[in-house]
Amino acid sequence: MADPTTDIPGYWDRYIQGVTRQGPEEAPILEWTQYPGHGPGAELLGEPSTALELGFGRGDAVAALASLGVKAAGVDMSPVAVRTAQQRWEHLGAEFHHADVTEFLGGTARKWEAVYSIWGAAWFTDPAVLFPLVHDRLEPGGRFVFSHASAVPGSYGVQGMYGVGFNGRRVWVYRWAYEPEEWENILTGHGFGQVRVWEETAPEEDHVGTVIGVAIR
Ligand SMILES: C[S@@+](CC[C@H](N)C(=O)[O-])C[C@H]1O[C@@H](n2cnc3c(N)ncnc32)[C@H](O)[C@@H]1O
Repeated sequence: MADPTTDIPGYWDRYIQGVTRQGPEEAPILEWTQYPGHGPGAELLGEPSTALELGFGRGDAVAALASLGVKAAGVDMSPVAVRTAQQRWEHLGAEFHHADVTEFLGGTARKWEAVYSIWGAAWFTDPAVLFPLVHDRLEPGGRFVFSHASAVPGSYGVQGMYGVGFNGRRVWVYRWAYEPEEWENILTGHGFGQVRVWEETAPEEDHVGTVIGVAIR
């Protein structure tokens, strides 16, 4: 599937430049949905003493956990994300690693009590590749939690996008979409237990919902 002309880290660098806020820092918060102040928060992770975010972007969720006393780490493939998060949040003791999640998880002996992804790498990585790696790097009883947009009805499996539009360089970005029941089957099939995946409805009735999944090793 990969092509030498594709530049996915560059795509995410541009994304991070677009979403990074300027001005004074606000207290970082961990939220799962695209609607500020809506839906569950850090309680979905249980009460971990260690946590790893897959695709931390701005790094706010890692920083929020670090300020609660969690040994919080994140991994992201975008050099801009890593640099920006380090500048903003390293004083809290948070760790920000630069790598593709599959290479990072496959190349470490560390384990975490919680591994999570907020519209992050668990959306943009084939679950057949990622989920066994996550399962392997969780402590027994540890939690895997992820969120991302609900699937477009009838459009399931891998979804391809042109990262710089139709008249630019070929930058192919892939993400994965399923209904909650199918995410549950995939998680169970990779050895997770107490699996629960649901659609968190939007604050307004006809707006896009959020798929949230919780599973235990
Ligand atoms: C839509 S952003 C969400 C970021 C963050 N969770 C937030 O809410 O601000 C997706 C992030 O996942 C990262 N990402 C996507 N695929 C990745 C991969 N395979 N390995 C590491 N990071 C990845 C991107 O660089 C980007 O920062």
